[in-house]
Amino acid sequence: MTKKVFVVGSTGRVATELIKDLVKADIDVKAGARHPERVVKNEHVEAVKIDLHDSVENIAKLMQGMDAVYFVAGSRGRDLLQTDAMGAVKVMQAAEKDGIKRFIMLSSLYALEPEKWEEVLSIIPSSETRDEFTNYNIAKFFADTYLVSNTNLDYTILQPSNLSEEAGTGRISINDQRKSSSNPIADVAQTLADILNYDNTIHQVILMSSGDEPIDEALASI
Ligand SMILES: NC(=O)c1ccc[n+]([C@@H]2O[C@H](COP(=O)([O-])OP(=O)(O)OC[C@H]3O[C@@H](n4cnc5c(N)ncnc54)[C@H](OP(=O)(O)O)[C@@H]3O)[C@@H](O)[C@H]2O)c1
Repeated sequence: MTKKVFVVGSTGRVATELIKDLVKADIDVKAGARHPERVVKNEHVEAVKIDLHDSVENIAKLMQGMDAVYFVAGSRGRDLLQTDAMGAVKVMQAAEKDGIKRFIMLSSLYALEPEKWEEVLSIIPSSETRDEFTNYNIAKFFADTYLVSNTNLDYTILQPSNLSEEAGTGRISINDQRKSSSNPIADVAQTLADILNYDNTIHQVILMSSGDEPIDEALASI
């Protein structure tokens, strides 16, 4: 039977590529977005309205019957508490309410390791101030920690560093941040899509950057 997945944040840069990759893999997508009319159009994509300020009950109603949930939303620093932090938690609670086990989370590098945030500060875009970056990390730390410690979900957390709009290479590096500090969005999206095929990624936090290994081989090796 065709798998059905829910994507939260479906008009985003990563989400738009992710949805195309999922459809290519014969997966039906229910695409949750604040502006559903802006979701990429495809016969296997049903766009629905979701706002992360909504209640857990309303979010759960939208996600009923799905095989997996992707959280790829984010507020670009404008609404960290209600979107990146509590919004993510509410989606996790809604998934559990619906009996959906598989949960794939787009996070950011070292979100669960505050002692390494100084290291990342050296490679972030200069437009971001130290406080903005730390506030963002705190929101992601809160969401990732809740997922790992307070849910029974079959989660995978993907933590890339800087997203870039360069062309994807189909090759990545996993759990080794020495090679590169950037990630083409296309590669992040393809990695997220492929994670669904690899049950060995369940209960794993995966650090990624661009690299030399084909995405499938990198995931299979976890
Ligand atoms: N930028 C980086 O270098 C970087 C690095 C590592 C990880 N990440 C993570 O990757 C995520 C996705 O990146 P991206 O570039 O694809 O982000 P993006 O283009 O800004 O997309 C974010 C999506 O979240 C949605 N959203 C925001 N607030 C919402 C709310 N209250 N309710 C529902 N949807 C909401 C946005 O919808 P609207 O269009 O309606 O605003 C948009 O669809 C980021 O949020 C971040 O957590 C980013």
